[in-house]
Amino acid sequence: MKVLVLGNGGREHALVWKLRQSPRISKLYCAPGNGGIADEADCLPVDLKSLASIVDLGEQLRPDLTVVGPELPLTLGVVDEFTRRGWAAFGPTKAAARLESSKSFAKEFLQRHRIPTAAYAICDSVEEVRAALAHFHAPLVVKADGLAAGKGVVIAASKEEAADVAAQMLNGKMVGEAGTRVVLEECLTGDEVSFLVLSDGERVAPLVVAQDHKRVGDGDTGPNTGGMGAYSTQTIVDDEMRDWLVHHIARPVVEGMKAEGAEYKGVLYCGLMMTARGPMVLEFNCRFGDPETQPILMRLESDLVEALEASIEGRVSEGNFRWSQDASVCVVMASGGYPGTFEVGKKIGGLDEAAAVEGVKVFHAGTSKQNGEFYTAGGRVLGVSARAAELETAVGRAYQACEKIWFDGAHYRKDIAGRALRK
Ligand code: AMP
Ligand code: GLY
Repeated sequence: MKVLVLGNGGREHALVWKLRQSPRISKLYCAPGNGGIADEADCLPVDLKSLASIVDLGEQLRPDLTVVGPELPLTLGVVDEFTRRGWAAFGPTKAAARLESSKSFAKEFLQRHRIPTAAYAICDSVEEVRAALAHFHAPLVVKADGLAAGKGVVIAASKEEAADVAAQMLNGKMVGEAGTRVVLEECLTGDEVSFLVLSDGERVAPLVVAQDHKRVGDGDTGPNTGGMGAYSTQTIVDDEMRDWLVHHIARPVVEGMKAEGAEYKGVLYCGLMMTARGPMVLEFNCRFGDPETQPILMRLESDLVEALEASIEGRVSEGNFRWSQDASVCVVMASGGYPGTFEVGKKIGGLDEAAAVEGVKVFHAGTSKQNGEFYTAGGRVLGVSARAAELETAVGRAYQACEKIWFDGAHYRKDIAGRALRK
């Protein structure tokens, strides 16, 4: 079969790498892809911000299966359009993707279905923010309602700061259109976990759990990023907790969406805070996480095509996945200055030496390839990933590989999975 992956990040490289292992695939395309993906799939140009551009590509390829990586094409309705034309596509419809594209929709949905989440207020004006602040204690969280590429969440130390941030969001200066409505939220504390499930609109099957590292600096310091590294082990949550999360969070979401007429198919990413009051939903993503997908797929032993088809065809069950007991980790190497401004076009060296380390796979994110050489082309450049029976070994292998890679300005966190190793 002919398969098309949409996207150009480390997540898409991991999807391509895993899909290529399926005996069912005869032709694999990625659009637009990146330097590393080009070694494993045919990369084609596309504008992921334009539904017309993606549909044109579909018309040209007529893929048997399309896997949508990032949220933007999903929220534009790629799955609706492809499905209407008879091209099987994995992921939620535009209506179902509202769980990610509108934080106010997600919060009201959670409340309607009594799924645990932080207390909140939805505000459309500075006056509403001022009135709502009376019901919160500092610190508190201010969120832009719409998609803001990771820049739409601010943890405010005081109510004054919260009011100030909310005002900047509302007047469009901070995140444009995405901030014309804001959500104020109680600030939760605890361990964050990325709990992903596969859904066919009715049933769900959990993927192995991962933990992300959002802050740029060691010890969770500095600004938030798209994610600087992630790991996955059997022990992030135990089986009992995993069942609880399926029964009290994932399944009620999928049943609730169906009851409301927006059946949710695809991967549902539940960003959770494990608080002293129990697990609570911080956010939903309507797609695979990045970088969580890298360590998650490194542990997948069964055929990914089968699982994605089960979602599209309405036959999801735990049997869709067979997982390794091994641990896995992904360390993100980023451009100097990321998540702020950074330069691109820096030559990357040491990739072959890194790939030769046992159990290591280097996923490319912001890279391009010219005349056989790789260059940086984005903020997050590489996801240096490793798998081993023990987390400590996997982490050691990933860092051994990172040390072999160089590019001007490269930086990465030295403490990915550090807290788990100390436990
Ligand atoms: P979101 O885009 O909603 O996932 O938020 C990005 C990050 O902000 C999360 O991964 C958390 O680290 C943090 N965050 C979001 N909501 C809250 C909250 N209610 N309490 C504490 N931290 C939060
Ligand atoms: N790693 C967080 C995300 O994919 O949104």
